[in-house]
Amino acid sequence: MNDPVAAVSAWHRLAGGAVLLDGFHALKHAVRFGAEVAVAVAADRRAALALAQELAPDVRDALDALLTEVPHGTYASLVPRPHPTAVAALAVRPSREAGLRALAQTPRSAPVVVLDEPRNLGNAGAVIRLAAGFGVTGVVTTGTLDPWHPTVVRGGAGLHFATVVERLSVQTLPGGPLFALDPEGEDIRGLKLPDDAVLAFGSERSGLSAALRERTDQLVALPMRPQVSSYNLATSVAMTLYHWSLTGGAPAA
Ligand SMILES: C[S@@+](CC[C@H](N)C(=O)[O-])C[C@H]1O[C@@H](n2cnc3c(N)ncnc32)[C@H](O)[C@@H]1O
Repeated sequence: MNDPVAAVSAWHRLAGGAVLLDGFHALKHAVRFGAEVAVAVAADRRAALALAQELAPDVRDALDALLTEVPHGTYASLVPRPHPTAVAALAVRPSREAGLRALAQTPRSAPVVVLDEPRNLGNAGAVIRLAAGFGVTGVVTTGTLDPWHPTVVRGGAGLHFATVVERLSVQTLPGGPLFALDPEGEDIRGLKLPDDAVLAFGSERSGLSAALRERTDQLVALPMRPQVSSYNLATSVAMTLYHWSLTGGAPAA
């Protein structure tokens, strides 16, 4: 689209129901992983395409076709907080039906990560980024946090489109052996986490919920000195997925 007026009007029409891709890197990842981008703007189109040429030549032509230049003030009025790259886009949120189908598919070649009643939007975004990097089947949240909240999407750097991201109840979690991470569990270093595992992590404030504990097949602990109460949620996911990658079928680097 080369018409800034049309781009801004499309933006206003779509913004309510679309996923905001805030900044060059979020747009780059989303395009790379097949997101349907409805409208994309840049305050300096040449600079954005030069960045693409330098950092992401694989998506440069796609960005060339997508980006419309708008004045910086117009760009800034479309986003909550201007990003240093002055690039933003709106993408279509993948259908829940397709997500649920992917989560239910068996056999699975990579685990599903469950965040049980997470509270912190930044943590959820960081976990989605990890999930994308390790090629996991999906990230499921329980509770009230919306895993597609703009702050989560910002934290995930546009990588929601590289995995499945859905909110479910504990009762409707995908099947498979459920390993729940808890300092009281069995030391992870002696365990092999299977590719079809469901790996669950508790909330930042209160840990694993009673409902989740009831469904758990095995509690798993990360090594930690006794004087330390717990690790941060996202770092716990990182350690666990790294452990799975050593023994399971994680993607080649
Ligand atoms: C910040 S911690 C939760 C702390 C919370 N106050 C509690 O009572 O459990 C968030 C989640 O990270 C995981 N986690 C943190 N440290 C862990 C450890 N040493 N072993 C296993 N899981 C851990 C657990 O899933 C935990 O529920």
